[in-house]
Amino acid sequence: MDLSLTEEQSLLLQTARDFAAREVAPKAAELDKTGRWPSELVARMGELGFLGVAIPDTYGGAGLDAVSYVLAMEEISAACASTGVIMSVNNSLFCDPLYKFGNEHLKKDVLTPTARGETLGCFGLTEPMSGSDAQTMATVGEKQGDGSWIVNGSKNFITNGPHADFIIVFAITSREGGKAKHTAFVIPKTAPGYTVGKHDEKLGIHAAHSCTTFFENVRVPKEMVLGDEGAGFKVAMATLDGGRIGIASQALGIARAAYEKSVAYAKERKSFGKPIAEHQAIQFMLSDMATELDAARLLTLRAASMKDKGQRHSMESAEAKLYASEAATRIAHKAIQIHGGYGYTTEYGVERHYRDARITEIYEGTSEIQRIVIAANLLKA
Ligand code: CAA
Repeated sequence: MDLSLTEEQSLLLQTARDFAAREVAPKAAELDKTGRWPSELVARMGELGFLGVAIPDTYGGAGLDAVSYVLAMEEISAACASTGVIMSVNNSLFCDPLYKFGNEHLKKDVLTPTARGETLGCFGLTEPMSGSDAQTMATVGEKQGDGSWIVNGSKNFITNGPHADFIIVFAITSREGGKAKHTAFVIPKTAPGYTVGKHDEKLGIHAAHSCTTFFENVRVPKEMVLGDEGAGFKVAMATLDGGRIGIASQALGIARAAYEKSVAYAKERKSFGKPIAEHQAIQFMLSDMATELDAARLLTLRAASMKDKGQRHSMESAEAKLYASEAATRIAHKAIQIHGGYGYTTEYGVERHYRDARITEIYEGTSEIQRIVIAANLLKA
């Protein structure tokens, strides 16, 4: 794998780094404290091309690739993990499947404004009674005589849900020999019968709002079906192959922020007459953190580079997400230890990284689900 960046990737990285340092990082503590939705940052991400990084410019995107997306996600998530996941959901879970599976109507009228950041998207797979076992859902779609559909059900933990203009919803639309067949629908927030619940209160990523969404006899025209009828579960799984790269990059950003703060603190804080960075106990922690960070970045870039080459990357995305998310938790944990009592307070912000890291082991497939995906790929004939 060639690890050098192209000129376009380097330029995007620099733009993301500048945006993160100047506009995102100064607001991160306030966003965490208040849980305010960062509408101004979402708008700026749209202007800068961060909401449709790997979508061709003909459909409103920046025309770059998955590697560029990882680079930008790491920078933005290092500054603010909430802003990072808002970006990730729009890119990976909404624009990507619309580009891959959408008909021309969906690409022109829904993908194009969403990749530009004029509208926002979200992804409805999880339900109150089915998370990891995603096929076993209660939401149903019933085909009507004119080819349209009526969708009934609910989806929960929907990141961007309270603010999104469109949602991709997965529903069971038929059964063959007892086996459920799913179809994916794109539903605008203006559709009669589509409502959203109150924001979830969470441990971290406070500014990335999520909620439950409800569908009561929502009529969906046939041109809003995403992919083939009955092939919705494959749309969901293929989308998550990309989404897991996004969450791995978010974890990478969180971990890097915790690591960098730890290095700076270790050089400045003194104990027993010398900077704590000179104590081997601290050096060993920093060495482990740096090594895990590099390993997580390499796994994530490998998965992104395979996606860019059009290669199947289910296993590599799962490995990247599994490792990066668990490493982020370990790194943020050590960061608090290095900061001692100050790490447990909000003064240095490492406790925010610790809280934010934890979700990366859960959403877009728990660590246990990533292990199932990896094992299934390892053991297949
Ligand atoms: N790409 C394309 N097709 C795929 C696929 C992939 N990566 N993975 C599986 N499939 C296909 C299979 O080939 C199979 O097809 P056939 O029926 O034609 O044989 C079909 O999908 C079913 O596959 P499985 O039998 O493997 O499915 P399963 O029921 O055993 O489930 C699972 C597999 C991996 C556990 C899956 O349910 C899963 O990923 N669960 C986790 C769900 C998840 O990640 N949810 C996250 C929600 S989104 C979110 O979190 C957003 C947010 O807030 C930020």
